[in-house]
Amino acid sequence: MPQNALSTFTELVKEDVVRWRRHLHQNPELSFQEEKTAQFVYDTLQSFGSLELSRPTKTSVMARLLGKQPGKVIAIRADMDALPIHEENTFDFVSQNPGVMHACGHDGHTAMLLGAAKILADLKDQIHGEVRFLFQHAEELFPGGAEEMVNAGVMEGVDLVIGTHLWSSLETGKIGVAYGPMMAAPDTFSITIEGKGGHAAMPHQTVDSIAIGAQVVTNLQHIVSRNTDPLDNLVVSVSKFIGGTAHNIIPGSVEIVGTVRSFDPKLREAVPELMERVVKGITEAHGAAYDFQYEFGYRPVINHEEVTRVIEETVSEVFSPDALDLLRPNMGGEDFSAFQQKAPGSFFYVGAGNKAKGIVYPHHHPRFTIDEDALENGVKMFVNAALKLLES
Ligand code: NI
Repeated sequence: MPQNALSTFTELVKEDVVRWRRHLHQNPELSFQEEKTAQFVYDTLQSFGSLELSRPTKTSVMARLLGKQPGKVIAIRADMDALPIHEENTFDFVSQNPGVMHACGHDGHTAMLLGAAKILADLKDQIHGEVRFLFQHAEELFPGGAEEMVNAGVMEGVDLVIGTHLWSSLETGKIGVAYGPMMAAPDTFSITIEGKGGHAAMPHQTVDSIAIGAQVVTNLQHIVSRNTDPLDNLVVSVSKFIGGTAHNIIPGSVEIVGTVRSFDPKLREAVPELMERVVKGITEAHGAAYDFQYEFGYRPVINHEEVTRVIEETVSEVFSPDALDLLRPNMGGEDFSAFQQKAPGSFFYVGAGNKAKGIVYPHHHPRFTIDEDALENGVKMFVNAALKLLES
């Protein structure tokens, strides 16, 4: 099918995609609990005909479109989960599930992939090979749904994989593409400083866990600034510090929690030891004890050169060279990386911010939303990139 005919065709599903997105937005479900979402996706896919459906895990869905001719197997992934945030938007399709909200755009991802599946299902006779649609649960909560789906075998026989994120800091009309490293490995840590509680007026009788904890936080900053190569990318952020109950009580312990972000596997492995050395040294110096827990999270998203080139060409051909935004990597995390362990893949961003429409709130904000005009762009990217990759 010629490119412009396909574009017109894509516009025909635009209304469906917006409707599906609004339905999902109104009915958000948390990670690993996407039961109604998965059922909605399954039922919608079934209505297209021509797809082989299965449920790889309790709350995920896979659809296989087997073309008439043999060829490559291309997988496209969309995540479906929402976040524990109480929505503050006021449009008429706000969350009907109090305290739960699609505040990252995964409702849009799911709707876009349904749209792509509908279009491609109609092209079944012309397809050489297979397009596999992966509707993934639980991107937001480690250990994540991607790894579970991979373990359930969804990547068996897959040659290439693509995925996207609607991105609010990129204006609608732009498509963000990155070669090589794109998103970091998000690891987490938890430190407990065990001091000795007592009266705040008699600190000499205590081992002050707050004062010691504050030094731990400060000294952890030396890892990035003084222990690792300035040319390596590394973040060590303390994001939670809990301790104390009243102005006149020194607490017996404090809890310090945070995240470490990196790309390089060797550097990543070295960080826990560097951190523990700081924690151990400072607590010992002041007569306190500690507990240190470190958890490796998702792998970094590293985009494959050849697949990314096809994505870049798709942007230029379907939109225009101006639509392309060659991105620097960012230190966010994504479990799309689990699929990239099994086949060369590329992850890209679909611009979904719109300052003129007031769509400016960041991801995970109670007033986050997407510009729905971006949905059509995402569908076009999925459909056209899949067709190009099948030919590649
Ligand atoms: Ni997200």
